[in-house]
This record gives sequence, C-alpha cells and structure tokens, in this order.
Amino acid sequence: MTTGYLALIILAVILLQLAVGAMLIYFRRRSHYQQLDGQTERAEPSSPAATTAIFADDTASEPYHPAEAAWKGFREFIVQRRVPEDNQQSVCSFYLAPSDGQPLPAFKPGQFLTFKLAISDADTDQTKSVVRCYSLSDAPRSDYYRISVKRAQAPVGLPEIPAGLASSFLHDHICEGDKLQVRAPGGHFHLMEAEPLPIVLIGGGIGITPMLSMLNSLLENGTDREVWLYYGVGNGSDQIMKQHLQTLADKHHNFHLYTCYSAPLESDIEGIDYQHKGRVTLHLLRDTLKLMRYQFYVCGPKPMMESLVPGLEEWGVDSGDIYYESFGPASLIKHEKPQPTASEHPITVTFSRSGKSILWNATTDSLLEFAEANDIDVMSGCHAGSCGTCQTAVTSGEVDYTQQPDADVEPGHCLLCISTPSCDLTLDA
Ligand SMILES: Cc1cc2nc3c(=O)[nH]c(=O)nc-3n(C[C@H](O)[C@H](O)[C@H](O)COP(=O)(O)OP(=O)(O)OC[C@H]3O[C@@H](n4cnc5c(N)ncnc54)[C@H](O)[C@@H]3O)c2cc1C
Ligand code: FES
Repeated sequence: MTTGYLALIILAVILLQLAVGAMLIYFRRRSHYQQLDGQTERAEPSSPAATTAIFADDTASEPYHPAEAAWKGFREFIVQRRVPEDNQQSVCSFYLAPSDGQPLPAFKPGQFLTFKLAISDADTDQTKSVVRCYSLSDAPRSDYYRISVKRAQAPVGLPEIPAGLASSFLHDHICEGDKLQVRAPGGHFHLMEAEPLPIVLIGGGIGITPMLSMLNSLLENGTDREVWLYYGVGNGSDQIMKQHLQTLADKHHNFHLYTCYSAPLESDIEGIDYQHKGRVTLHLLRDTLKLMRYQFYVCGPKPMMESLVPGLEEWGVDSGDIYYESFGPASLIKHEKPQPTASEHPITVTFSRSGKSILWNATTDSLLEFAEANDIDVMSGCHAGSCGTCQTAVTSGEVDYTQQPDADVEPGHCLLCISTPSCDLTLDA
C-alpha cells in the first residue's frame, strides 16, 4: 500500500467520523425541538397545563426566546365576582371574565396576569397608570381567570408610609361589574409536566396563589403523581382556602397537606386546623419527605426564599429540580453576584433623552434602581422582570441580566429592573 493510498483512507475515515458526528447533533436538536413543539401543542385552550419554559437563575446565561402571548397588549375583563378569602379580609379573590365573551386561552398553572390600573391620587386629583402582576390562583378554565390579592399594609411602625397602591385600590375600589385591563398570562414559573416526578409545593403567605393553581390543576386532571403542599402562614385568621384544601386532602390519597402556623391562635388546634407549629423549614421537609427525587416549587416571602432555596440545594436537591418565584424585587433571590474589583474599568451609563451621563455604581442592584436614584424618569411595575413596563431601548453597549426575564423583551431593548451594564451603555431614557 502506497503512502498516498494510506493517507486517502485516513482522510476518508476522518470525514466519515465528522459526518456521523454532524448527523448525531442534527437528530438530537431535531428531537429537542419536536419535544418543545409537542409541549406547545398541548397548551391549546381545551387541554390542561403544558410546559415549555425554563426557570431559575442557572438559565440566565442562555438565550431567551419569549413565548408567544395568547393576546397582544391589554384586553378588557369584567370583575364577575369578589370573594374575601380570610377572616381578616386581607386577601380578596377576583373572578375575571373577558368583556368580549370569547373563551379564554389556557395558561400554565403558576403563571400570572399583568394589570394596568388607572389609579387617581386624591391629593393631586390626577390619575396615574400603575402596572402590577398577580398570579392566577385557580386551574385553567375557559370562562374565567381568578387572582387572589393580598392588601399590602404599610410597614409595621411606619404609619406615615402609604399602604400598597395597587392592592389597596383593588380591595377598596374595584367592585363586581368593574372593568380591568389585563395582559395575557405569562411567566416561566409554572408546572413542569415533562418529567412526572412527585411534587413538593411550598407557599408562604400570599405566595400560596401559584401553588393553588398548580394543585387544583393537578388534582382536577387526576394526576397519579404524589403531591405535597407546605403552606406557611401566621395562623387561622390569615389562612386562605382552608376548607378547599382540607376537602382536597380528604378526597385525594396522593395529596399530602402540611399547613404550618408560625403563630397559632389559642383557638387553632394542632392536627385539626394545622399540621405543624412553626415555619416551613428545611428541617420540616427533611422530617416529612421520603428520601427520593422531587420537583420543588417555592414562592413566599424573602426570608423563606432566602433560606429554603439555597437550603434545598445544600441538602442535595439538583438545582434543576427547584423552581421558584418571588413576588418582590428581583434582588430578593440573588445568586452570588461578582463583587466589583478596584481594577475594573469604570462604566458610564448615558440616559440620552434625559441628557445625563453618570458613572455606574457597582453596588447598585439594577439599572432601574440606578435610574431612579439619579432622578431619571422611567416607568416600572413589578421590579421583578415580569411585567415588561421598564423595557427600554439600548442605543449602544450591553447589559447583563441578573435573572431570566419573564416578560417578552423586544430585540435591542432591556428590562432595567433586572439588568446591570456590562460596559459603557447608552439608554433611550
Ligand atoms: C409574578 C408576580 C406575581 C404576583 N402574584 C401576586 C398574588 O398572587 N397576590 C398578591 O397579593 N400579590 C402578588 N404579587 C405582588 C403584587 O404584584 C404587588 O407587588 C403587591 O400587590 C404590592 O403592590 P402595591 O401596589 O399594593 O404596593 P406598593 O405600592 O408597590 O407598595 C409595596 C409595599 O411598600 C410599602 N411602601 C410604599 N411606599 C414606601 C416607602 N416610601 N418606603 C417604604 N415602604 C413603602 C407599602 O406600604 C407596601 O407594603 C405578585 C408579583 C409578581 C411579580
Ligand atoms: S418593572 Fe416589571 S419588568 Fe421591570
């Protein structure tokens, strides 16, 4: 065999390997996209929940492809019914039907609606537009959506601070028959059904709302997955949907209810009104769950999120099995942010319409916080990357996201509330 002939054989073998490799990659990708397509198809109105999306900070570096919204912009809804949900009347459910009478598209249990409220200020006699998000708190239905809103009180000991703007408005001024402007269901925090693992739902306070949607949907659809619900709340006077949850627990052998009262009243009886005295802690989860793989869904107040989410990971739960959502500012759950070093190049942020160029303060959590601190007039709503209100055009430069945006971001734009500049930046603000 000549040297040339041998070289040809080697070349042919290499080419063959390359071709096989390319084919493998092609078929893997194709099956991945087919999977996603299949999941999207299952999200048709007549079918129950379907899942396509990803969540958690681990995905923040991946390219973001916003899902197609069920309708564009805001759609008018009529408040069909208001139902107070707790003894203190601090949580009220609103049942919403579309004014156009058309059937509602399905959503993924765990998703939220975005509202644009026209709220008038008694002092100035002016009306301002306020955007807020509220999780859907029931299983998908074709005739109504339900949200459950907690009145946000002024911080304890600071009576001069006003109570929550939007929640007070909804509680005090929105009656049956009133109309509300609503954006289509959205959000990446929702039930993942691709892998039928047992499910642990953890809701603290009003963070119970997305869990209710997931729970109702799972049980109504006759799931055979084991479902645990850990509901952390002060006591019987601020627990919501107590009878409903107990009825579900009595009816479904695969549903395990752990209501946890951190400060039970004398009239609250352990074992009847609640199952555990104290908060929902990792200790409680370890004591009550079997040693096996679960999907965890967590939504609650800041201390709960800050202890449970990292705690679960330390316990050995794969971060891919932990899904969480925070109702507050995006900074509530921050994975380690690289600390600025003295040698780093200073970054200038230019707000072109305001005519200001300001040196970026690396201790600031977000461009929104930075803009507000420097008196730049920017619109905002959720402060959590969910509502899209703070979307701003980036004229030059780039931003880093601190978490995956839930809102659809147009090309060439960024969400100020969850981004920081990665280099000199010019914003159209
Ligand atoms: C994805 C998502 C889903 C959500 N789902 C739900 C849900 O299902 N149910 C629900 O009830 N909420 C939910 N929320 C929270 C909701 O969107 C609102 O943030 C909440 O209702 C508070 O809004 P607000 O306008 O009433 O309060 P804001 O006016 O935004 O005030 C918030 C708090 O700050 C206090 N405050 C006001 N001014 C000051 C000041 N100067 N200094 C210090 N404190 C001040 C207020 O007293 C209040 O306690 C969700 C949020 C997100 C992002
Ligand atoms: S304020 Fe809602 S996405 Fe930024």
